[in-house]
Amino acid sequence: MAVVPADASDTAPVSAPAGSSGFPSGSAASPATESSATEPSAAARPAVGTADARRGLAVVTGASSGIGAASARALVDAGFDVLLGARRADRLAAVAADIGPAARSRPLDVTDAASVQAFAAGVTSCEVVVCNAGGALGLAPVVAATAAAAEAEEERWRWMWEANVAGVARTVRAFLPALVASGDGRIVVITSVAGHQVYPGGGGYTAAKHAAAAVVQTLRLELLGQPVRIIEVAPGMVDTEFSLVRFDGDAERAAAVYTGTVPLTAADVAEAVTWAVTRPPHVAVARIDLFPRDQASARDVHRRP
Ligand SMILES: NC(=O)c1ccc[n+]([C@@H]2O[C@H](COP(=O)([O-])OP(=O)(O)OC[C@H]3O[C@@H](n4cnc5c(N)ncnc54)[C@H](OP(=O)(O)O)[C@@H]3O)[C@@H](O)[C@H]2O)c1
Repeated sequence: MAVVPADASDTAPVSAPAGSSGFPSGSAASPATESSATEPSAAARPAVGTADARRGLAVVTGASSGIGAASARALVDAGFDVLLGARRADRLAAVAADIGPAARSRPLDVTDAASVQAFAAGVTSCEVVVCNAGGALGLAPVVAATAAAAEAEEERWRWMWEANVAGVARTVRAFLPALVASGDGRIVVITSVAGHQVYPGGGGYTAAKHAAAAVVQTLRLELLGQPVRIIEVAPGMVDTEFSLVRFDGDAERAAAVYTGTVPLTAADVAEAVTWAVTRPPHVAVARIDLFPRDQASARDVHRRP
């Protein structure tokens, strides 16, 4: 018997007969596809982007915008049912509604352990968890000019650690039994080029993403022998709300990040995520570094006049 989550804020488990989609039958929002806990054989496996009824449940954190929303959409296109989580309930519900009946949403704050537990409640089997929630706050030097600035900066560092590092660990902890139960779990962590390189002003964010990358590698060692694949996707510049958040809603400053370049889109990253999780069960895509052509490193970007 598969057990998967009910609607939006309802955290009670909902049982579904084996072989069904896992959503409440007869509900207006029941998806048209069916899902199961096992990956089809390589011969039967459809190409990425091909709807397939057997892929199962994918959980995506930080799905109210950007890479998370695009990944949820792409995963549904590839045949998964999806459970979406983020803090902005209105945005999240709109994304889920736009994707259609294969998508469900629940509120989620990955910096809050109780919220992560409630988000995962009732999910006893799932194939994919995309740990995407996170982001950057500010672009300030490690040594701040004043004591007040240093205090504010420490608060931002704490949030970046909570969201990008501890948030990943909490999410994995909450879903690991369900991933193992599926027989072929896949954990995707969206780190960044900032998880492997540094740049001036990025100390808090690059430290957090380096730590997230270390957590990924540690999980790969600790889960060796379990039916779980650990996948890191490390993008360069992606045109999302990332910079708007980083610069406290300053749209002009955020837009300047992408001026004169052609950054990646959220859909580009979503395609990489979907490709990685749809390889045959014996193939573990360890890490994908995805750059725009206009970017050579975390700090080298080609800009046209
Ligand atoms: N854009 C880039 O250039 C880039 C490059 C490399 C890596 N990344 C990484 O990619 C991931 C997605 O970012 P994005 O570019 O798509 O930016 P985005 O559009 O700002 O999306 C960030 C998502 O994370 C969610 N989120 C933030 N804090 C959260 C929390 N505490 N709990 C739950 N959800 C939370 C946000 O939703 P709510 O605000 O509704 O909670 C939103 O859905 C992040 O981890 C980011 O660090 C981005």
